[in-house]
Amino acid sequence: MSVRISPSILSADFVNLERDLHRISSADLVHVDVMDGHFVPNLTLGLPVVQRIAEVSPLPLDIHLMIDDPDSWAPRYAETGAFSVTFPAEAASDPKALARAIRSAGSRAAVAVKPGTAIEPWLDLLDEIDMILVMTVEPGFGGQSFIDDTMPKLRTAREAVDASGLDVWLEVDGGINDETIVTAVRNGADTIVAGSSVYGRPGTPEPAERIAALRAAAGRVA
Ligand code: DX5
Ligand code: ZN
Repeated sequence: MSVRISPSILSADFVNLERDLHRISSADLVHVDVMDGHFVPNLTLGLPVVQRIAEVSPLPLDIHLMIDDPDSWAPRYAETGAFSVTFPAEAASDPKALARAIRSAGSRAAVAVKPGTAIEPWLDLLDEIDMILVMTVEPGFGGQSFIDDTMPKLRTAREAVDASGLDVWLEVDGGINDETIVTAVRNGADTIVAGSSVYGRPGTPEPAERIAALRAAAGRVA
């Protein structure tokens, strides 16, 4: 099956962000991690920066909110013209209303579940959402190791989505490389976030080569 690749700019050079956005133009989406220093311990960027990224990005924005009070903030991120806005399951007070607000602002609505968060309550809301993000690390930082124990949850989501016949995408985020992408796709992921394995370190292969390698690895899944 062919998967969508969404490189995370958390591992890009924030001082040369426009250049680094263009270095991933062979991907499908660009994953933008918004962290507020409260919902997660880390702090990244906020609405004005995302608005500017939306203006210069060659790819549609896959915004991943790791913030408190997504009910207030997520629709404003959708108004940047984002392709997709993902809110954290654990912080949403009225998920159905929030998903509707994101959709009516013109974005696909998605919910993210941390490794320890159950998926079952969200399977009743499948007709209200366009994507489920199964976090494969604890949110907050790039460069962590993939948590295999999240795979049964991903399989449960895949079975429910297939049984529903709805067009709900299943995204994974955290610790994805040429090996773990195979595990994730085998367990039902169709949309793949990769940060450190795409941007790497200076002197390592270019992001375009890394994106191609991830696609090739996913393509070998029977
Ligand atoms: C972590 C972020 C991820 C992060 C992934 O909380 O949500 O998007 O950039 O980084 P890697 O691919 O390095 O694990
Ligand atoms: Zn993310």
